[in-house]
Formats: sequence, C-alpha cells, structure tokens
Amino acid sequence: MRTIWLNEDGWTVSIINQQKLPHVFEVAILRDLNDAARAIKDMAVRGAPLIGATAAFGLALALRDDPSDAGLKEAYDRLLATRPTAINLKWALEEVSDAVRHHVPHTRTEAAYAKAVEIVEADVEVSRRIGEHGASLIRGIAEVNGGKPVNVLTHCNAGWLATIDWGTATAPLYVAWGEGVPVHVWVDETRPRNQGAALTAYELGQEGIPHTVIVDNAGGHLMQNGQVDLCIVGTDRTAANGDVCNKIGTYLKALAAFDNDVPFYVALPHTTIDWELGRGADIPIEERSAREVTHVSGLTAKGQVQEVQVSAVGSGAANPAFDVTPARLVTSLVTDRGICAASREGLLSLFPEKRA
Ligand code: MRU
Repeated sequence: MRTIWLNEDGWTVSIINQQKLPHVFEVAILRDLNDAARAIKDMAVRGAPLIGATAAFGLALALRDDPSDAGLKEAYDRLLATRPTAINLKWALEEVSDAVRHHVPHTRTEAAYAKAVEIVEADVEVSRRIGEHGASLIRGIAEVNGGKPVNVLTHCNAGWLATIDWGTATAPLYVAWGEGVPVHVWVDETRPRNQGAALTAYELGQEGIPHTVIVDNAGGHLMQNGQVDLCIVGTDRTAANGDVCNKIGTYLKALAAFDNDVPFYVALPHTTIDWELGRGADIPIEERSAREVTHVSGLTAKGQVQEVQVSAVGSGAANPAFDVTPARLVTSLVTDRGICAASREGLLSLFPEKRA
C-alpha cells in the first residue's frame, strides 16, 4: 500500500500514522490545514518525500477553506515552518503554489488537488527509478560475493514509509531482492526516534528481507570486521556541491565507511537537491524536543505501548535531528536519473538543465 492517498470522497486525505508503528497500524485522516501541519510537525508522516507530498495536500485542504491570496500565503508559511531541513517541503509547496496562482480563487482548490496527486504519482516513479539504478550496485557486489548475501547497512528510514512507495535507500534493496539477489541489512536503530528499529525493520520484515537491528554505535565495529559490503542512506537535502544532510548519525557512518573502504552511497530523488545551496554547512538543522532523547516508548510485556524515561531525572538533553556528510565521504549519489559523483559536476552531468 501507499503512505498517503486521496480518499474516494475526493477531498480528505489518508495517511499511515507512523507515530504508532510498528506496534499499531493506524490510518489517520487529514481534513484541514491544521491536520496536515500537525501530521508533519509531530511526525505522523516523516521522510523528505512524504513530508513534501503531505504539504502539497495540506495546501489543497487549506484552499478548500480559504482560496484567497492571503489564505494561500498563510497556509504556505504555516506548512513551510513545520520542519526546516527537508527541502522537499519547500519544493512541493512551490509546485502547488505555482499551479494555483494564476487561477481565480474558486478554481484553485481543484488545481491544488490535481497537483498534489501528480506529485504523489511522480514520486512513486522516481523512487522506482532510484531502485533500478541502485540495484546495479548491489548486483555488482553479489557477483563477486560467491553466493553469500550482500551485507548492506542503512540508517534511519529512507524506505517506502518515507516516500510514497519503494523508498529511496531501500528501493535498490527491494529491486535486487526481487531479482533474487541475496541481501542482509544491518538496520541502525536510529536514536532518538528509532526510525530504523521501528520503521525500516518493520518494512524489511513485511518484505521478508533478512535484517538485523543494531545500536547506532555498532556500525564502525561491523565495518572494521568486514561485515558490511556497502552503506546506503537517504538525504533530506543535498547541496549543489554534493554534500548531503540526513538523519543525525549519518556522518559518523560515513566516516567509519571511509576509514574502512566500505562504499557509502546516498540515494535521492531530484526533489531533494537544493540547487540554491552551494554547500551543506548552510543547510538548516532541525532541533527537536529534548524529550525525544530523555524518553523512549515501546511495547510492554502486557502488549501496551508505553513511554519511559531513560536519562537521569533533571538532566538536560540536546536533540539536533540531522547532520551533514561532506561530499568527499560519499562514494556516489544514486538518483532517479542515474548514479553520479557527489560533486557539482557529478550532479550537473545528470541534470544539465541546471547549468544555467
Ligand atoms: O526525521 P525524519 O524521520 O523525517 O528523517 C528521515 C530521514 O532522515 C530520511 O533518511 C530522509 O528523509 C530521506 S527519506 C527518503
């Protein structure tokens, strides 16, 4: 199934509530701008492409209630402020705004929904193409692995739950696995919100792909011991020079991979490239609530989801949600247009229209 869809009534939007996964599968319905903004901010939906798609529908829902210029601007600003790092959010808001601006107010809503649906459909195809291109990397290792599974390490969730379908970092895995290539995935738990343990592991389990959840600090050790053939992660924003910004901890994995000659790939849709940013250091890093660090939730023996405090009562906590991996640590970028060097020239070779 998909992560977001327009319901048959033609106006409400359904999402999978990712706050409850993997223990509870729940579909939530978005009926207005407030619902959409809250779903993004509170991470009922998350992952750069899905954040963008939800924002696109959020704008359509907002225009139903107020299609005026002022209404459009207010909704745009409100949605843009929900999460600062993933550039897909701004990209999707721009796409919808451009599609409705020239309409008179009473035809804007329909145009906005049409654009949101187009964004969703296009994202599925984009992810599928990332999968086709990236699978060649996994296949290449499998060919010299003598039938042994290809060991892949991933961080956070850049899977179908982070997109509409397929995922970015997981798409090559799904394609390779579908072709019969044996793979095994090391899944970083990804503190503080555990997107790896909760979401990536859930996804891979549903697909029947062998995987093992590891603590975030285990990757370096596994790489030193030859237990990782390649790393592949997603990105929330890619600067025009190939620097990538992804979930906090990605940079440390890239450093360990570099030190151990393990290829480190970053999978991304073109919607994640910020052509206006010349370097990753200028990407805004979201600072989230300290409570995500001090507390965790999980399944009790009685089958209930409960939150507990892990840090000493009274201790402060900091929660930068993303970090920047410099292009020099990235082996290649895997995009929907193909694979390229993590550099300005590399990106421009696949997106020559951006040279101007
Ligand atoms: O905070 P999140 O869960 O939205 O962070 C998600 C990630 O860091 C993903 O790796 C990134 O968005 C790429 S998703 C295809």
